[in-house]
Amino acid sequence: MDHDKFLEYVQAENKVEPKDVMPEDYRKLLVRQISQHAHSEIVGMLPEANWISRAPSLRRKMALLAKIQDEAGHGLYLYSASETLNNGENGADRDSTYQAMLEGKAKYSSIFNYAALSWADIGAIGWLVDGAAIMNQVMLMGNSYGPYSRAMVKICKEESFHQRQGYEILMTLCRGTKEQKDMAQDALNRFWWPALMMFGPNDADSPNSKKSMDYRVKRESNDDLRQRFIDVTVSQAEFLGLKMPDENLVWNEERQHYDFGDLPWDEFMEVLKGNGPCNKKRLKTKIDAQKEHSWVKEAAIAFAEKQEELVNA
Ligand code: ACO
Repeated sequence: MDHDKFLEYVQAENKVEPKDVMPEDYRKLLVRQISQHAHSEIVGMLPEANWISRAPSLRRKMALLAKIQDEAGHGLYLYSASETLNNGENGADRDSTYQAMLEGKAKYSSIFNYAALSWADIGAIGWLVDGAAIMNQVMLMGNSYGPYSRAMVKICKEESFHQRQGYEILMTLCRGTKEQKDMAQDALNRFWWPALMMFGPNDADSPNSKKSMDYRVKRESNDDLRQRFIDVTVSQAEFLGLKMPDENLVWNEERQHYDFGDLPWDEFMEVLKGNGPCNKKRLKTKIDAQKEHSWVKEAAIAFAEKQEELVNA
């Protein structure tokens, strides 16, 4: 295929569909990113699921359950989008991509290797983690691969509810007792920097960005999205009456943006290497779940085969 023509095609804002001819490195880039994104949705259910049985009221429990179920749905759309890129030899079928995650060969978002220690963390996850995810995913609605961009539209609508659900939990805590407000501040202190690292390394250290931008998968840079997230989030923290845990955070009149402190990149690299606070626990939970529940899948396959035999008899 003519590579320049393909670039011209995507750069003119045309969508690529599963059966279209595409360069192999475009296919590879998409399988990498979409499957990592799917793993993030699925592993991302774990820190919050830990709080379902401890939600402070029935209403809170219902909203949290609904949100976590949404995340499962997002994972499934994304595995389906990734599977449309399976060419029979690139390991993009669902079992192989999932297995790669279980074996620690495929990444998922660093943020899900941090524990949710208090109820306020559930608020901070909705506000900051889902807030950062939306910032990135609104940009991805415009990506050049049809199934991925369409999945993003529905996902963003749901993420928007998740973000409000989290912010509202924190609003309630911040209007409550001193202990409740302290708990909210503590959650912000622990989740702020990990949330900023969700956007990935600085642009200068991002090996995939150029190709991804050329192919119109990534539409904005890691640093631009991180800056926008900070710019919109500061006033939300002020409204809650919380203090951002960054002494260097200051409005820069000239840039019309907030300046902020250095991110803990050493910590980011350790989390990516599997040495974050919960990496091992997260993988073990998913591996154990697969072992324990494999009979469900086997039974469903056996049932489907029987049905097919009956239809063909
Ligand atoms: N956590 C884990 N790995 C990360 C993170 C992160 N926060 N940020 C970057 N990385 C990885 C990249 O995947 C890449 O690894 P690889 O080359 O082995 O695949 C490496 O670090 C270098 O980063 P970049 O070159 O900047 O990678 P990329 O161009 O893919 O940009 C980004 C990273 C912005 C995360 C992009 O992949 C993306 O937009 N992904 C889709 C969105 C997504 O996955 N969101 C996760 C949260 S969704 C949720 O909240 C449920």
